[in-house]
Amino acid sequence: MSEGRSPLRLFAVAAPGLEPLVQGELARLGLVSGEAVPRLAEAGLPVEEQRSPGNRPPDEEGGEETGGVEFDADLAGLYRANLWLRTASRVLLRLGDFYAAAFSELRKKASRLPWEDYLRPGQPVVVRATCHRSKLYHSAGVAERVAGAIGDRLGQPTPLVKADPAAPAPPQQVLVRLVHDHAVISLDTSGELLHRRGYRQAMAKAPLRETLAAGLLLASGWDGAAPLLDPFCGSGTIPIEAALIARHIPPGKRRRFAFMDWPGYSPAVWQAMLDQAAAQECAAPGPILASDRDAGAMDMARSNAERAGVADSLAFACQAFSAMTPPPGPGWLVTNPPYGVRVSAGRDLRNLYSQLGNVLLRLAPGWQAGILCSSDYLIGHTYLHLKPGLRLVNGGIPVTFYMGRVPYPPGAGGRNARRG
Ligand SMILES: C[S@@+](CC[C@H](N)C(=O)[O-])C[C@H]1O[C@@H](n2cnc3c(N)ncnc32)[C@H](O)[C@@H]1O
Repeated sequence: MSEGRSPLRLFAVAAPGLEPLVQGELARLGLVSGEAVPRLAEAGLPVEEQRSPGNRPPDEEGGEETGGVEFDADLAGLYRANLWLRTASRVLLRLGDFYAAAFSELRKKASRLPWEDYLRPGQPVVVRATCHRSKLYHSAGVAERVAGAIGDRLGQPTPLVKADPAAPAPPQQVLVRLVHDHAVISLDTSGELLHRRGYRQAMAKAPLRETLAAGLLLASGWDGAAPLLDPFCGSGTIPIEAALIARHIPPGKRRRFAFMDWPGYSPAVWQAMLDQAAAQECAAPGPILASDRDAGAMDMARSNAERAGVADSLAFACQAFSAMTPPPGPGWLVTNPPYGVRVSAGRDLRNLYSQLGNVLLRLAPGWQAGILCSSDYLIGHTYLHLKPGLRLVNGGIPVTFYMGRVPYPPGAGGRNARRG
């Protein structure tokens, strides 16, 4: 990397709904000021349309960045963002942006970018291009010209390859976004998406992305110390993310990142960052309880927690939610029950939600409840009067994180009294 360079322009990509949480995390890392305004998802479609079932979540897989937070940092800040961000999908490095209405102009201007800082001559790249309302509308042609420009700059042709998620060392990925003839060229600094922490190799039905699970925990107001309960834990994503938060363990500590293959990568800076993080790790201050009635899911949750290095911070139980035993005193329930689209499809779940409300009223009055669900109607059956909070997309399905305090029932017959 050239000396005396101005700070790198970075963009932390967030799935729809998670933008303010990514912004909050960057602020806590000291990488943006508290006033930074996150950019909400766009991608050429109104947010409501993006969220409709059947649309691909307008996010990362296709390489089209949507919402997120811009920030400036040096290389160490770029490492830190990748290591610590729990809710971002990936971190992009903005290499340049310019007007380009012809292929020749695109190639010429793209060849002025400092590719030598990040790529070696002849190194294959994936180029993902998207074009909206631009004279250059042929995305494959755009990708080809940008690969050509990289080769021009590095003095050797740059092979353009297809993304292969199964490859052990995925190629560097360049993202080109053309909107109204304005090209923005970015390099992916993360490689595999950030939700792939490396611990979740076993997955039960309808697993939650790790970034979403962390988002629910951060949005719930849980302080990392009070008891936490997930009675529908499946493969354990929520309790494992909770243990990582409670113990100050960085989510990226066990994985590789694309920036580690750049010519200027400093293993010493990275190792110092890991050492500093390890010195801050602590034991989980409060109990984190993970249960599910499915024995196979519980086995997966245990083995995922072991891989994440937090199994000793979790208490596992294979049981129906009705057998939950919240510790006395205040605590948090953060959970993702079936909502009948991917799990229990076609089953009438009103009874499950109604029972959940009853159980919480009986066993966890005064607890904070945060429940991820796709349906106001089902949540209404808990009779807990939870309020809609974060609106997210889970596996292409629009979902809401409902939150509130479990009321103290007026008496043994309190629930019937409320209904009547
Ligand atoms: C949407 S999945 C949870 C996914 C989980 N968050 C993950 O990341 O893997 C819902 C879970 O609820 C469990 N479940 C369904 N009915 C249950 C019940 N009555 N008691 C306990 N668990 C139940 C299912 O076995 C399933 O694992």
